[in-house]
Amino acid sequence: MRVLGIETSCDETGVAVVSSDRGVLHLEGQALHSQVQMHEAYGGVVPELASRDHVRRVLPLLNVALAQAQVTVDALDAVAFTRGPGLAGALLVGAATACAIAAALDKPMLPVHHLEGHLLSPFLSADPPQFPFVALLVSGGHTQLMAVRAIGNYELLGETIDDAAGEAFDKSAKLLGLGYPGGPALAALATQGDASAFKLPRPLMQGLRQGNLDFSFAGLKTAVLTHAQRCARTPDAPDRWRADLAAATQLAIVEVLVAKARAAIEQSGLRRLVVAGGVGANRLLRAHLDTACRQMKAPVHYPELDLCTDNGSMIAAAAVLRADAGIDVPRADYRFDVAPRWPLTQRSVAPADQA
Ligand code: KG4
Ligand code: ZN
Repeated sequence: MRVLGIETSCDETGVAVVSSDRGVLHLEGQALHSQVQMHEAYGGVVPELASRDHVRRVLPLLNVALAQAQVTVDALDAVAFTRGPGLAGALLVGAATACAIAAALDKPMLPVHHLEGHLLSPFLSADPPQFPFVALLVSGGHTQLMAVRAIGNYELLGETIDDAAGEAFDKSAKLLGLGYPGGPALAALATQGDASAFKLPRPLMQGLRQGNLDFSFAGLKTAVLTHAQRCARTPDAPDRWRADLAAATQLAIVEVLVAKARAAIEQSGLRRLVVAGGVGANRLLRAHLDTACRQMKAPVHYPELDLCTDNGSMIAAAAVLRADAGIDVPRADYRFDVAPRWPLTQRSVAPADQA
């Protein structure tokens, strides 16, 4: 089947065409517009501006994705869109657009969970994973460890009790005077720094022995703030304190993520790791996970770098995989809603239903 995917949950408008052939996914065309520059002046995403920009971008991007795929809309079998979680107004743009296109073409629609899109995005890579696996979902809004036994079979093993890993990167970057979103900028600055120059907390690490796979990053942000304020007040602090603090922050986040992912593999007995979400693009995280997984003899899979952050391809891919697995039947009643808060575990179906 060939599916159009539309992603508008936050500050990226993504449109893509994905098809499947005997269980193998093909990314036929994709187009993306990032609103980062527009929101930069405000230091974060302005929901109303995000919605309006999605309205402006989505149809021109549709034309680019179709042209790249060398198909017309008639070749589509279904239209998928991000139903949630995300910003309500932004989600409504994608959902309404998908509904209008589907209705005009008399084709069915498929609502997709944004995090399931991230989770399944490595299936678009040249080396797709096999089930079962542990998934480390690290995005701007979520940090979760899941046991994934099949498509639509998701068990939450642990999650953040406060900030997400991406949020920890972004908020620390802001404290260091870097732009928005700060993750990539902090990672770039960190390459020039010495991580051992600052001692930062590794929250909830002590709970590992009791099997606690939850995360907490709010304390780290406070520690970064305290160090940054002290350095700014100290005239003889070495010039490189910003780079050193960036390196120490990145290392603290990475070490916690790797330790918990490692424990999740050990506790669940699932000897394969899949990493997804924007922070999955982080080089230090990839290097540390590669080492840990090599030691554990557990293969590790990442999405292609350009598919780590939000995009339409992962939404189309998740829709195709769910439809091919018989979990979702695309609907043609042309009614839609959005779900700004939507736990991924609600997308889990009982194994008996998956036959
Ligand atoms: O998955 P995503 O696009 O957003 C959500 O669905 O929430 O991820 C965006 C997050 C931002 O917090 C961004 O700073 C972070 O991913 N990010 C990175 C890197 N690239 C993106 N964080 C650290 N290192 C990177 N290279
Ligand atoms: Zn995302």
